[in-house]
Amino acid sequence: MKQIKFTFNPSFGDFDTLVLPVNSQGEVSANLSDLPQFSSLNTLTQQLKSSGDFSGKVGQTLLLIQPAGTDIPRVLLVGLGDTETLTVKDYLTSLQSMADALDQSGAEQAVNAVVLTPPANQTLAWAVYQSSQISQRNLYDYDHASRGEHTAKAPKLETIIYPCEAQGDAANQGQATALGMALTQDLANMPSNFCTPSYLAETAIELGNTYGYEVNILDRAEMIEMGMGSFMSVAQGGATPPKMICLSYKGADNPDQAPIALVGKGVTFDTGGISLKPGAAMDEMKYDMGGAATVLGVFKALGELKPNLNVVGVIPATENMPSGDAVKPGDVVTSLSGQTIEILNTDAEGRLILCDALTYTQQTYQPAKIIDMATLTGACIIALGHHVSAIMGNNQALVNELIEAGQTTYDRFWQLPLGEEWDEQLKSNFADMANIGGRAGGSITAAQFLARFTRDIDWAHLDIAGTAWVSGSKKGATGRPVPALVEYLIKQTQA
Ligand code: BES
Ligand code: MN
Ligand code: ZN
Repeated sequence: MKQIKFTFNPSFGDFDTLVLPVNSQGEVSANLSDLPQFSSLNTLTQQLKSSGDFSGKVGQTLLLIQPAGTDIPRVLLVGLGDTETLTVKDYLTSLQSMADALDQSGAEQAVNAVVLTPPANQTLAWAVYQSSQISQRNLYDYDHASRGEHTAKAPKLETIIYPCEAQGDAANQGQATALGMALTQDLANMPSNFCTPSYLAETAIELGNTYGYEVNILDRAEMIEMGMGSFMSVAQGGATPPKMICLSYKGADNPDQAPIALVGKGVTFDTGGISLKPGAAMDEMKYDMGGAATVLGVFKALGELKPNLNVVGVIPATENMPSGDAVKPGDVVTSLSGQTIEILNTDAEGRLILCDALTYTQQTYQPAKIIDMATLTGACIIALGHHVSAIMGNNQALVNELIEAGQTTYDRFWQLPLGEEWDEQLKSNFADMANIGGRAGGSITAAQFLARFTRDIDWAHLDIAGTAWVSGSKKGATGRPVPALVEYLIKQTQA
């Protein structure tokens, strides 16, 4: 994927395209009085408003080629509506329209003045972050034949010049986030006959080689030997070899500083196993490795940004298949923690692989805290829909920080409760716990199950079932929640 160059120049420098924010009065909403052509452009936008050619509403764009009275090759007008009441959502819509229009034009060097008019309560740095992320992300496409190349969209755009003092950190974070999201999207969009646990492992090894971090892969024999009876029970139904993929990024001055651990569900295809899923939309269960893809996307961004902290990523990866060897409802298995589990539904497999990964992560890395992410429950979509991920955890400060990072990036989380009452739903007559807790509060009981494996550590769980991909005519991975996690991690270096 082509990488856009982001630069800063309050006096503009050389450019061939000027992007102007226009409000619902038809006025240019940024003050660019240093620009000699500014007043004639401002008159022009108001004429376009009166003539009905450009209303300035949110998301509207109009490309003007060499407007009269100026020597500028292209002026792109971007509507922001009423800038007094402009919301973050509408602002991001306008930035997206801008990115589409720029990419479809002949622009090579574009001055983006839209960042000068952020919504209320947002900073210039925030606008630069969002604008850079959206502009870079707009070059993403997925095509099976040319996967990973992203050459379908090949705009002429080379440089975006922000007409302000340098906000380099914001632009870098936006761009690195977009590159991380592209990797997450690629892995998730790739069908399960290509994106296998081994492929995820190779991707981790490649990242490690590129950015210089340690990668360690466990195979089936090692994991059986170690006692991961829960994870291995899910993997026993499939011929495709399972992997535990471990990455370790050491950016802190002290290499022994306890890391933050990211654990991601990597079910490369979820048939449900013997508790087979219905056929409708089952293809979308190739996305059941969205948590794993998020961990790898975040590691890509970490490699680009090199922040001063230690992070480990742990990915249990397997298919969930029915077969003559598959685990059956009622089977009892012993997890790596020693706790026994009665598997009442083989389709509740995410928690079965995550619990062993959570124990392994604590035993191996002694992390300061663990954040897990998983396309864990259909119930999450029923509870919250597709616009926010669910968050639960045993440490409210950690949950709050993640919620905050989600607000900043507009990659949002909404907290659901945890508590003993829900935990009781996991009672089993034959083992320490059952792997399902009934229909009521399905996302919460799934988290309660994980909570039994994170009692001794600060832990947050992200259920991304509703946000990792979109269905319908625009079916595809979203790259979420890479933006929120990168923001959270960067914030840890500033504390
Ligand atoms: N991967 C699914 C959850 C899921 C379903 C995510 C649909 C996104 C869309 C998970 O493994 C699963 O099957 N969960 C079951 C749990 C149930 C058996 C307790 C579910 O949600 O139905
Ligand atoms: Mn399942
Ligand atoms: Zn699943």
